[in-house]
Amino acid sequence: MTTASDAPIRLVEVGPRDGLQNESAPVPTDAKIAFVDQLSASGLREIEVSSFVAPGWIPQLDDAEAVFAGITRRAGVRYTCLVPNQRGLARAMTARVDGISVFTAASETFARKNINASIAESIERFVPVVKESPVPVRGYVSTAFHCPFEGPIAPAAVLRVTLELLAIGCQEISLGDTIGRATTDEVGRLLDALLPRCPVERLALHLHDTFGNAVANAEAGAARGISVFDGSTGGLGGCPYAPGAPGNVATEALVAAFPGRTGVDRDVLVRAAGVIRPHLGRGGAAAGSTGRSAK
Ligand code: HMG
Ligand code: MG
Repeated sequence: MTTASDAPIRLVEVGPRDGLQNESAPVPTDAKIAFVDQLSASGLREIEVSSFVAPGWIPQLDDAEAVFAGITRRAGVRYTCLVPNQRGLARAMTARVDGISVFTAASETFARKNINASIAESIERFVPVVKESPVPVRGYVSTAFHCPFEGPIAPAAVLRVTLELLAIGCQEISLGDTIGRATTDEVGRLLDALLPRCPVERLALHLHDTFGNAVANAEAGAARGISVFDGSTGGLGGCPYAPGAPGNVATEALVAAFPGRTGVDRDVLVRAAGVIRPHLGRGGAAAGSTGRSAK
């Protein structure tokens, strides 16, 4: 019998998207392709490859089409992307993605700065995207614990957005600790608020690691039955529109935290980090220094 302490854990690799969207120096398209190809050999089943967002907002990922065209797709691996609107969906479909993610926030200020919309407007914008998408749709709720502009976020606000995203047809909701400030107590409090209303298998945790809490937070989530965690190989990551949002939790650290449960080969991830590292600027971009500032 599988118990909570040995149940399989699914890791969603977001390094090529979240990791590279915050880089100060342009990363060559060929290097992104080599990174994804190496990640594909690790046992990961899902890789977020890039974003089909407005290039003026995230110029680092304006080669999304070329990256998708260049990767070698491995059977059993889903290659996904971020999509902010119907235009992004059309681009993603042309690129033959296996899944898309829409993204909003639990904080109005962050939503405005990141996607130039209120939370309600963003959900309205997603309705036709989800309806028309022929591939599964994930929804991100950023600032699920803390907002760089509004401070601590009430679990009730996260619950509201999560239920709306589920109601419009998102299959999985990834809860973002966008600036890596959450504590294990806060993870417990949020899940206590969500789990009576949302099936645990529809929730994922997306933890940035600003203060080194991310692995403990993932373990706190797993103890409450969460089995899907986002990670970024090499600990790359950050959002240019979230001041103080450095790397995601390293996928390697998640593999080590859940031994024998992820099906992912840590050594292959380490090799993948070695493929991309020579192409990275030191420490990624300062918040707001990439692309144009949010309106
Ligand atoms: P806007 O400026 O309000 O929209 O941006 P717009 O409709 O006025 O479009 C502006 C320009 O972009 C227009 O072109 C559009 O055609 C074009 P122009 O007329 O100026 O030449 N455009 C597009 N082009 C290509 N593909 C598209 C597209 N859409 C519009 N899909 C918008 C609104 C949502 C588009 C913009 O704010 C945007 O793209 N934001 C994305 C920001 C982003 O990607 N942030 C990082 C990802 S989120 C994150 O990292 C958090 C997460 O990791 C979880 C966590 O950590 O919490 C997921
Ligand atoms: Mg993120």
